[in-house]
Amino acid sequence: MALWSGRFTESVSEFTQRFGASLPVDKALYAQDIAGSTAHARMLAAQGVISQDDADAIAAGLARIKERIETGDFAFDINDEDIHMSVERALIADIGDAGARLHTGRSRNDQVATDTRLFAKARCTDLMEANVALRRALIVQAEAHPDIIMPGYTHLQHAQPVLFAHHMLAYTWMLARDFERLAAARRAADASPLGSAALAGTTYPLDRQMTAEALGFARVIPNSLDAVSDRDFLLDLSYACSVSCMHLSRLCEEIVLWSSAEFGFVELSDAFSTGSSIMPQKKNPDFAELIRGKTGRVVGDLVALLVTMKALPLAYNKDLQEDKEGAIDAAKTLEECLVCAAGMVETMSIKPENMRAQAKKGYLAATDVADYLAKKGMPFRRAHEVVGHLVLLCEQRGCDLEDLTLADFQAESDLFEADIVSSLDLEAIVAARTTIGGTGNAAVAEQLAQAKAVLSTD
Ligand code: ARG
Repeated sequence: MALWSGRFTESVSEFTQRFGASLPVDKALYAQDIAGSTAHARMLAAQGVISQDDADAIAAGLARIKERIETGDFAFDINDEDIHMSVERALIADIGDAGARLHTGRSRNDQVATDTRLFAKARCTDLMEANVALRRALIVQAEAHPDIIMPGYTHLQHAQPVLFAHHMLAYTWMLARDFERLAAARRAADASPLGSAALAGTTYPLDRQMTAEALGFARVIPNSLDAVSDRDFLLDLSYACSVSCMHLSRLCEEIVLWSSAEFGFVELSDAFSTGSSIMPQKKNPDFAELIRGKTGRVVGDLVALLVTMKALPLAYNKDLQEDKEGAIDAAKTLEECLVCAAGMVETMSIKPENMRAQAKKGYLAATDVADYLAKKGMPFRRAHEVVGHLVLLCEQRGCDLEDLTLADFQAESDLFEADIVSSLDLEAIVAARTTIGGTGNAAVAEQLAQAKAVLSTD
């Protein structure tokens, strides 16, 4: 019989017992549950609600249960419904009446909210560490290749040449924002619901501040109804995971493209590639694809929780039991994706000659030729048209802008002089982009220093 079965004469069927149980999911929260119960018992004793001896017996009993769970010596029983009941039943079996006093002034409603917040905080910290490791790997690649030029794209069409280091650093900024989102999710979780009891608070003289401090919470949630029914912190965590996974899927999409024969910009290490069961020559970027694919599930976790929360009346509703599976999955998936991406980026080799060869194609100097004319006084829109004609001429001849003669240039505008030829040079085009955040070598060096400085404080 369940611990709450006093008013029942019949028990639920085996099917509904299983259907209603959250134990398979929330047993992952055993350490948080035990920490919360220990803090609650200590506070009950400090407030004179239970004796000091009872609190000591509870704390020692809970420590033994933790040990048993960690050594695989604890038999979970689905009839206990959830981790809270599992631990409490085992405690009562171990220490008797003292254990049966633990739940004084407490409900599973404030208990589960406490456990979940502690869990969310810890996961945010883990994810922030994994985020930093990936940023470090991107920065190492940027630093190792300071002068490599590749085509920059818009619409996946060649646009203007950029530094490979610039491209790598773009991802570090996305990830730096992800770090902030995870920190914000951790702050959202960092408030204690414990002492709110079922929904309305309790008649026992609980010291909520004391349990909050013992558990490392920054503050106490001021409204008991809100405390037991708020899952915003899990939405924040799921959103942070979704955005970060989305960023990883963009990085991985580029890695998939770049490791194709058509691009050939990078080669993944064997450790981050797989072969084909039929085609002996294949080297597939499976792990990059998998990260891209897993993003869908993480976003699904966020949407599922949003829909679960929609229209829930105050305060606790059993629907809330559905909150943990997706959030746990989102955090685990993002963590694994971050670890995998860091290893992949760290070990991939760059093929500068292929990047450069592509940067030579597609008239990447066109904007600079237009700027050349505009700087000599031609309105930019007119200059744009003149260069458009030159590109058309190249298309007709099947050549590049740098194959045109000075006479070809001058036939379109007499503002062109001999120095136009040097302004078509890839190095010069890149180096000239000196604005803050631009791809010029000096600007990228500054950006790199900035990215490292942010990383060192995260
Ligand atoms: N297993 C439940 C959950 O995950 C714990 C809270 C149950 N509370 C209740 N009144 N049934 O939400």
